[in-house]
Amino acid sequence: MAQENKLVLRHADSPGYTNDLDCYLRHGGYEILKKAFSLPPRELAEGKRLSAPEQIREEVKMSGLRGRGGAGFSCGLKWSFVDRRSGKPIYLICNADESEPGTFKDRQIIHKDPHQLLEGMIISCFANDVHLAYIYIRGEFPEGARILNRALQEARAKNFLGKNILGTGYDLEIHVHRGAGAYICGEETGLIESLEGKRPYPRIKPPYFPAVLGLWMCPTIVNNVETLCHVKHIMAMGASEYAKLGTPNNTGTRIVSLSGHVRRPGYYEIEVGKVTLGELINDPAFGGGLREGRQLKAIIPGGSSAKVLKAGETFKLKRKGPDGKELEQELNVLDLPYDFDSLMAAGTMSGSSAVIVMDDSTDIVEALANISEFYAHESCGQCTPCREGSLWMSKALNRLTHGQGRAQDADYLLKIADNIPGGRTICAFGEACSWPVQSFVAKFKDEFVARGKADEARAKADSPTVRGGQTAPAKPAAELTH
Ligand SMILES: Cc1cc2nc3c(=O)[nH]c(=O)nc-3n(C[C@H](O)[C@H](O)[C@H](O)COP(=O)(O)O)c2cc1C
Ligand code: SF4
Repeated sequence: MAQENKLVLRHADSPGYTNDLDCYLRHGGYEILKKAFSLPPRELAEGKRLSAPEQIREEVKMSGLRGRGGAGFSCGLKWSFVDRRSGKPIYLICNADESEPGTFKDRQIIHKDPHQLLEGMIISCFANDVHLAYIYIRGEFPEGARILNRALQEARAKNFLGKNILGTGYDLEIHVHRGAGAYICGEETGLIESLEGKRPYPRIKPPYFPAVLGLWMCPTIVNNVETLCHVKHIMAMGASEYAKLGTPNNTGTRIVSLSGHVRRPGYYEIEVGKVTLGELINDPAFGGGLREGRQLKAIIPGGSSAKVLKAGETFKLKRKGPDGKELEQELNVLDLPYDFDSLMAAGTMSGSSAVIVMDDSTDIVEALANISEFYAHESCGQCTPCREGSLWMSKALNRLTHGQGRAQDADYLLKIADNIPGGRTICAFGEACSWPVQSFVAKFKDEFVARGKADEARAKADSPTVRGGQTAPAKPAAELTH
């Protein structure tokens, strides 16, 4: 039977656990940091030696850890891109913006176990020769910022931070920086601009890859809250033990934010790929099923920007059989393992691991209108396809939800959505605003067309007939906002 496997939230969710340093220390807190600091140099062939930081970087790479922020990029690989020869300082930024709609996992860690995040960050900083790091937390999390600042004070008082940490000669300071509440501040280069005190306009890549030209044009690592916590566990367990959690290429555990029409919405930590979407929705250990008498209609599997999945859809996935040979399997949407690769093979993504469940009471046109309104509001406006396209899509959807739609609106929406992504924009927001439209309209086209046709028929019936059998011009559209 599918069940949770708590690694990051193991202590945080246990009864009586509090978020102060004393409690953290009673549960073995900062012991892994001490272990990381005291790793003896490892002798290699040809007289080479791996320093403690190099060994940590190696372990993280071998663990297979993939970023928990959205893209699922290999953490070890990202760290290997850092320009260590520039002579400039290297910075680390913890991305605590948690801005993807449907996502509420990082705040659990911050609120319940802030020292775990700090320990993961300090190990990561030590591994990468970072002496100044930031936690960029969204503006709407004042309580989280307060908790983190208190945790930082406690850590400084015990010399887990500051000068000559625990007598190792290693110096590190971490600051909390509060954003002002823009979705685009979660995008790593927008975040960096914001941290520098500017508008969060994402930077174009190349050349502005953070690992080379990041904060203050210095090499910078940006990692998600949950990703950084895993670094501590990789060092505690060792890369090979850690990699046994989850499934090949999808290692470790992941906290899933489950919301929508399930009986038990909430956050659940699972081994990646060991639980299916259907189990997340229906199993009593997770969502506990839909409400009485309701049928599943759709699932957004990775935050609002992920392409929607339709109930009953099937996908052909290549998987390894028991004999290790690759075989193609046809899987129902509910049988998709919840991992990075399976969801990508199903044409969507696990993104920020926010699963939004919609039953047959959902007005799919309304749902997409809601999502698109958000993206139109949040586009930073630098790129014409994103700025104009997101607004046009939102306006067309607004028309459809206000009784002023047209039968061809579905095709119109697809045409716009198809012309935003694909390298036409500076950042991946172009994809984020288009994917919901492309997938909702493609998979539920009949609902969009029916809405538009009904609106047209009503408008025709309402129009007074004028001389010659012609109809009067349609009523002016109501004020459309986005
Ligand atoms: C529009 C947009 C919003 C994003 N928002 C977040 C966010 O809120 N939190 C986050 O960790 N990553 C977010 N990301 C991903 C970050 O750019 C970056 O890839 C991530 O922080 C890297 O951390 P990871 O490798 O540990 O996942 C966003 C990306 C885009 C394109
Ligand atoms: S894609 Fe959109 S959000 Fe990203 S830089 Fe361009 S306009 Fe801004």
